[in-house]
Amino acid sequence: MPVTRALFDEVMVPNYNPAAIIPVRGEGSRVWDQDNREYIDFAGGIAVSCLGHCHPAMVNALTEQANKLWHLSNVLTNEPALRLAKKLTDATFAERVYFANSGAEANEAALKLARRYALEVHGEEKQEIIAFHKGFHGRTFFTVTVGGQAAYSDGFGPKPGGVQHVEFNNLESLAAVMSDKTCAVMIEPLQGEGGVVPGTKEFLKGVRELCDKHNAVLIFDEVQSGFGRTGTLYAYEQTGITPDILTTAKALGGGFPIGAMLTTAEIAAHLKPGTHGSTYGGNPLACAVSEAVMDVVNTKEVLAGVKDREQWFRDALQKINDKYDVFEEVRGQGLLLGAALNEKYKGKAREFLVAGAEAGVMVLVAGMDVIRFTPSLVIPETDIAQGMARFEEAVAKVVAANS
Ligand SMILES: Cc1ncc(COP(=O)(O)O)c(C=O)c1O
Repeated sequence: MPVTRALFDEVMVPNYNPAAIIPVRGEGSRVWDQDNREYIDFAGGIAVSCLGHCHPAMVNALTEQANKLWHLSNVLTNEPALRLAKKLTDATFAERVYFANSGAEANEAALKLARRYALEVHGEEKQEIIAFHKGFHGRTFFTVTVGGQAAYSDGFGPKPGGVQHVEFNNLESLAAVMSDKTCAVMIEPLQGEGGVVPGTKEFLKGVRELCDKHNAVLIFDEVQSGFGRTGTLYAYEQTGITPDILTTAKALGGGFPIGAMLTTAEIAAHLKPGTHGSTYGGNPLACAVSEAVMDVVNTKEVLAGVKDREQWFRDALQKINDKYDVFEEVRGQGLLLGAALNEKYKGKAREFLVAGAEAGVMVLVAGMDVIRFTPSLVIPETDIAQGMARFEEAVAKVVAANS
């Protein structure tokens, strides 16, 4: 039976609309499709493939664990999960870890924990969750409701209540709605899906102060910004403040599904036995891979390399912009970068993505106005140069089509 893109429309729920090509193989930052056509991967599976495709450390960890033990459920614990949790607590502010299978699940756990903590410590009145316009926290009904785009949460019936949204990077708009009824503030320190918008240091510091003033839990969603992507293991390390709960997924597994919620011992104590759980969370295969990924990512060499690569990307994008005048600015941190299109090209980000794929380079969009780059954290300089040459071809094509 031929496996083609047409089969997708026959057998799959149409909630996705994947590209026409079907990749079959990847190595480092290169991917090949069914016709053996090669692509340079600047997308990294949406900020997931932090060591590129089929990195030997991941392949070895997965095959070794595959020959030992696949699954137990949480009726029993397992060695890879405990080792990974120890590494995560040693490397961060956190003292306790809850494992999930995705970013949304890690956030679901964080929100439920924040509500339970507030209920047990402060009483029933303290329920309000505040989040930000254009924020993105996943697609479960609670997390998508906390996300700041009503278009994603509308149309599914009654939403979980007690959720408010305010403007990102606007402390006054947050201060205006915070009260002693606020249970938690959930925020991406660097908004990804919402257009690659960094929270300013002053703003994030102000958010922390408001949370302290109102005894509210501060949840950093680092699902996209975390695990080395900004040049430190987590982005909070560069903000001068510490959250109470942090969620991490995507790059955490380097391509194997895993998510985690990290928090303090005091807060964690409120998720008592039976309050929350998952069959697969902390699965030995996922944790073994993640542990191997962390051993590579959480090194001075790789984290410093992210900053070098950021500069190479910025330099290349600047050169393209000098020639074609398409971007208003290039923003972001580390290897979570967004090229925001100028007035002339606003709304056309997808055209660049499509032209990129035709030229043999995979990029992402973040909304309709921003082209997003979230490549492997160890992408070689030569792949960046070649990928950028292909991206320039794509830009030239879009510019010609719009002139
Ligand atoms: C900041 C942030 N939080 C949560 C999620 C949801 O993660 P997942 O798709 O693994 O559920 C995403 C995914 O894009 C994200 O960018």
